[in-house]
Amino acid sequence: MRKKSLWPIAVRVLLPTMLFFGAFGQTRIVVNADLGRDTISSHIYGHFSEHLGRCIYGGYYIGDSNSSIPNTRGVRTDVVNALRKIKIPNLRWPGGCFADTYHWRDGIGPKEKRPVMVNTWWGGVTENNHFGTHEFLDLCEQLGAEPFIAGNVGSGTVQELAQWIQYVNFDGESPMSKERAANGRAKPWNVRYWGVGNEVWGCGGNMTPEYYVNIYRTYATFMTGGWGSGRLFRIASGANSGDYHWTEVLMRDIPHSLMEGVALHYYSVIDWGKKSSATKFTSDEYFTSMQRALQMEELVSRHITVMDRYDPRKKVALVVDEWGGWYDVEPGTKDAFLYQQNTMRDGMIAGVTFNIFNNHCDRVRMANLAQTVNVLQAVILTEGEKMLVTPTYHVMEMYSVHHGALMLPVQIESARYTAGNVSLPAVSASCSRAKNGDINLSLVNIDAGRQHEVTVDLRGAVFSSIVGRVLASKYIQDHNTFETPGKVKPAEFGGARKEGAGLHVTLPPCSVVLITLR
Ligand code: AHR
Repeated sequence: MRKKSLWPIAVRVLLPTMLFFGAFGQTRIVVNADLGRDTISSHIYGHFSEHLGRCIYGGYYIGDSNSSIPNTRGVRTDVVNALRKIKIPNLRWPGGCFADTYHWRDGIGPKEKRPVMVNTWWGGVTENNHFGTHEFLDLCEQLGAEPFIAGNVGSGTVQELAQWIQYVNFDGESPMSKERAANGRAKPWNVRYWGVGNEVWGCGGNMTPEYYVNIYRTYATFMTGGWGSGRLFRIASGANSGDYHWTEVLMRDIPHSLMEGVALHYYSVIDWGKKSSATKFTSDEYFTSMQRALQMEELVSRHITVMDRYDPRKKVALVVDEWGGWYDVEPGTKDAFLYQQNTMRDGMIAGVTFNIFNNHCDRVRMANLAQTVNVLQAVILTEGEKMLVTPTYHVMEMYSVHHGALMLPVQIESARYTAGNVSLPAVSASCSRAKNGDINLSLVNIDAGRQHEVTVDLRGAVFSSIVGRVLASKYIQDHNTFETPGKVKPAEFGGARKEGAGLHVTLPPCSVVLITLR
């Protein structure tokens, strides 16, 4: 007898039920706790810091002669402590656009002898090169984060990058390792992650993908020498947003033995010509920001579809090494410094983006928020000796439970969040099982005006306790300032209760919720 397919039942019963719930303002989530297969790389929660505005100087680094702000070898102690708390897994440096103007030899040796350069991309300010390779790698060691160095392709040479790798990684005797030791570091650092140029379709050289693939092949050939640490992880400069042709050419024309990752850059921008204020935005602008942030789902899915065609076994990682919200700079600050405040809106962008990355963790194995301190969607802001953490920081901290955890697939039928004739799914989710057995469910309600009722069907999960945390605030524009640094912060969440074998959750408007089941 032919076995009857279950599909017709699913289509006739499950789908209409889910659509019914969605249309009538209820959200239904199914967590398949028994179908976990892929691990969420902690590197999805990576950061990006460039020689731009007050990110490096004043943000992380105050120089070794400054004694009024607590520091270790010039690196701010408060910033290091805050980033260690969110378990910062990696840090990409020195750019950004700056990377393709940076010549690493300018940033080694005695500081007074280092040449001064002009930071042509970011305001034409003078860069004294006091924060160079040793200082960056010291910072990474203080943070307990893996370094990710973006090499100069646009104005550099193959030899320059090959020698940089040898300088930081070679553990035998060579001119490079001798110079490193003479500069105070005998032991190699074993840097694994290397970018081969940045935005080579734009500030990194205005190349076509067809031209870049040959350049890439040459660079990658000479980027040998993981030496003690195993193989290098070489990341090709990837597409700008929805440029799928770029990914196609890279995946087709670069041998996969030469490439461990392909990058993607995408910023949530309302309108490049009119980005609008980071704090004084309307609810329509908030809605558009959410629409832009949710577009990451389509971008990631479609780039993955292209990658799957050439690499069905998912050997090459998709590395979203620049993402985040981008607005007008704060009044009174330099345009080229990209200093912006960070509100609940940014917390929402972070939450929905992490849900997307978690759910695609079989291919998205690294991502870097732009940029950690004082630039774009920063997690930390500083002013002199003062420091504050932003709503995005709190979301990063709440999602740190997913680092290295087993992703549990979720299906979601969400109620809608509507403005005019556009509607978005109000609720997004991702879930994982930690090594200690905890199930962590992250939920985001982007709806600024309405709480949402969510039923969660937990298939294959047994639990006896529910613990919840929430990040929410009265207004979507709420943010932390140096006067009130604790205005937006996570609180205990009591809106989840057991219902049958699953949960019922009431999500407050504009909120990020973490539910831990034990
Ligand atoms: O993050 C700011 C800039 O945005 C980076 O330097 C560049 O790569 C991107 O265009």
